[in-house]
Amino acid sequence: MRKRLPKILVTGGAGFMGSEFVRQAINKDCPHRGLSLIVVDNLTYAGDLRRLEEVRGRYKFYKADICDKKKIKGIFRKEKPKVVVHFAAETHVDKSIQESTQFLKTNIKGTQVLLELCRLFKIKKFIQISSDEVYGEIKKGRFSESSPLKPNSPYAASKAAADLLIKSYIRTYNFPAIIVRPCNNYGPWQYPEKLIPQSILKAIKNEKIPIYGRGKNIREWLYVSDCVDAILLILRKGKKGEIYNIGSGQERNNLMVVKQILRIMRKPEKLIKFVKDRPGHDFRYSLDSSKIRKETGWKPRTNFTEGIKLTIDWYLENKKYLTRLT
Ligand SMILES: NC(=O)c1ccc[n+]([C@@H]2O[C@H](COP(=O)([O-])OP(=O)(O)OC[C@H]3O[C@@H](n4cnc5c(N)ncnc54)[C@H](O)[C@@H]3O)[C@@H](O)[C@H]2O)c1
Repeated sequence: MRKRLPKILVTGGAGFMGSEFVRQAINKDCPHRGLSLIVVDNLTYAGDLRRLEEVRGRYKFYKADICDKKKIKGIFRKEKPKVVVHFAAETHVDKSIQESTQFLKTNIKGTQVLLELCRLFKIKKFIQISSDEVYGEIKKGRFSESSPLKPNSPYAASKAAADLLIKSYIRTYNFPAIIVRPCNNYGPWQYPEKLIPQSILKAIKNEKIPIYGRGKNIREWLYVSDCVDAILLILRKGKKGEIYNIGSGQERNNLMVVKQILRIMRKPEKLIKFVKDRPGHDFRYSLDSSKIRKETGWKPRTNFTEGIKLTIDWYLENKKYLTRLT
């Protein structure tokens, strides 16, 4: 029989990736003992408890801001988690370019609050969900875990700052953290400000789909359930103090992504509308993920062609999620 997971506190568990983690952890790892998962989320515009409907009653929920030390301390005192998996963040690059205050608060200050409380309550493991964006852009080749951090957007800078803070805690206090850096995730339940769900939503409504510049910017795309598989493996097998890239090897430029969505949905390419590029737009991200593959045996199960079909099917079957947002 598989060992049960210890009591885990998940921040940002009502978000796109955090909710996939909660659903998988409950369904796979603690089918008979739902309350070993504690979700902390302050339900910003991006948080939505409908994402956790299918596991309702099998996790404990606290609506709380991770920057609110007093409140979060009360939750730690009451629940005594052994592990923290930290997804909560402001995540939309465009929003960070308009105004970065909340990004610095949640992504840096919020992380610092958690780190201090984890020290106080002697947490056994802290998993930081970082991002490939902390490395900046790469024209050729791939970033390894030891590549320098050269973030280019306020969002990426806030994530990099959190990583550096965590690294300082590892060194100074022997803090039991592991940092994971996933590439671009996509799949069910993603908020439609991001490229893939936004394009699907606009295609459903026969509206113009905006693409920055000429759509040549390249991202590495990972189906969200594969990413969560990787995080669950890291939870069991990852080495404390280490960093792990989580990449799929499936690179596509934005134009290719949108054209593929339109083809599958049988919509015309004339829906595409090129718009002025975003300032500081990174040209390409690409991760060397050999470390996680070697150490945990992880590899993604879903290639982009399958994943994008599954994602479109999901949005078509769950139009209510989209339409209640717009
Ligand atoms: N989506 C991606 O492609 C991707 C790729 C790499 C890394 N990441 C990282 O993964 C994590 C999850 O990303 P996502 O796409 O699921 O984000 P998301 O925006 O869908 O969800 C973020 C969640 O955090 C919550 N939250 C925000 N501020 C909070 C606060 N102050 N206190 C408590 N809760 C708060 C929100 O309510 C929401 O539920 C983030 O840390 C992000 O930086 C995302």
